[in-house]
Amino acid sequence: MSKTIGILTSGGDAPGMNAAVRAVTRAALTKGMKVLGILRGYNGLINGDIIEMNARTVSGIIQRGGTILYTARCLEFKTHEGVMKAVNKCKELGLDGIVVIGGDGSFRGAADLSAQGVPCIGLPGTIDNDIACTEYTIGYDTAMNTAMEMVDKLKDTTQSHDRCSVVEVMGRNAGYIAVNVAVAVGAEAAIVVEKGFDIDAIIKNILDNRSSGKSHSVLIVAEGIGNAGQIAKDIEAKTGIESRATILGHVQRGGSPTVRDRVVATQMGYHAVELLEKGIGNRVVGLKDNKVYDVDIQEALSMQKPFEDELYKILNDTAY
Ligand code: ADP
Ligand code: F6P
Repeated sequence: MSKTIGILTSGGDAPGMNAAVRAVTRAALTKGMKVLGILRGYNGLINGDIIEMNARTVSGIIQRGGTILYTARCLEFKTHEGVMKAVNKCKELGLDGIVVIGGDGSFRGAADLSAQGVPCIGLPGTIDNDIACTEYTIGYDTAMNTAMEMVDKLKDTTQSHDRCSVVEVMGRNAGYIAVNVAVAVGAEAAIVVEKGFDIDAIIKNILDNRSSGKSHSVLIVAEGIGNAGQIAKDIEAKTGIESRATILGHVQRGGSPTVRDRVVATQMGYHAVELLEKGIGNRVVGLKDNKVYDVDIQEALSMQKPFEDELYKILNDTAY
């Protein structure tokens, strides 16, 4: 008998989620499966907020940011009662498996469902790239490019006014976006939780640059540091250099996904369907050595991701 699978997006949206939804839907339809779109993450599963997917419901979405399935954070699903409501809904719908696109929190939910007999496959969808089992998360490249483009624009005014710009980028507690964007825009420093920071050393760097003729500076601060405004004030107070803080915020989550996000999302979505076709669940799909692979969800959740120490060093050795 042909299988019926569900697909949902959960947690923060990320560019490329739609490409993954499209790939899962089309790959499953090719294999003769029925595909149900579950709206607003686990809320849609608990409440039965479902649409049937076909080749046309996913037409023209590969280039769109956001998620056509909407996304949400569902507190009820964190309770045993919530999970059981979802399990009953899966039985009612005849679901043989679900593809969950989201971050670590969403994968915990997927593990709970898998433990109750609903095979789930997690796809890493977050701009933060903070999922340990994978080198790459869907949305990361687009978010970095968006941040880079915005800092490029910002640099025009920073330069014209001989100012210091302190720019906060997203990433929750992770500094991957920050260090990559800092390198890409030629910033003086990336201030990230993983490495801590010494404001006096940064100020010395800014002043040294001034004395060698560079009259503007850009610092990229990871969101997890949490006080770009204060850092700008401190720099201005200690140097007399006019400083401004800019928080890029949620624009980094939007926009048309890059080639990399569309392609990786498509490869991962395809792999997820192959697993569900074999009745395999409780796995997260990731990239390892740039190849798609899958790993047990609990194992995935227990991994630690190294920071980009080498890139951080390169930034510091070239930032003057
Ligand atoms: P992300 O998936 O991006 O990490 P969240 O941490 O907000 O985002 O999680 C998204 C959703 O996943 C939550 O709103 C909740 O429905 C579900 N979830 C999160 N943590 C758990 C958990 N420990 N057990 C079950 N479900 C969870
Ligand atoms: O996980 C993606 C992300 O944009 C983080 O970078 C950020 O910390 C968080 O989500 C913001 O969440 P919200 O959309 O709830 O403001």
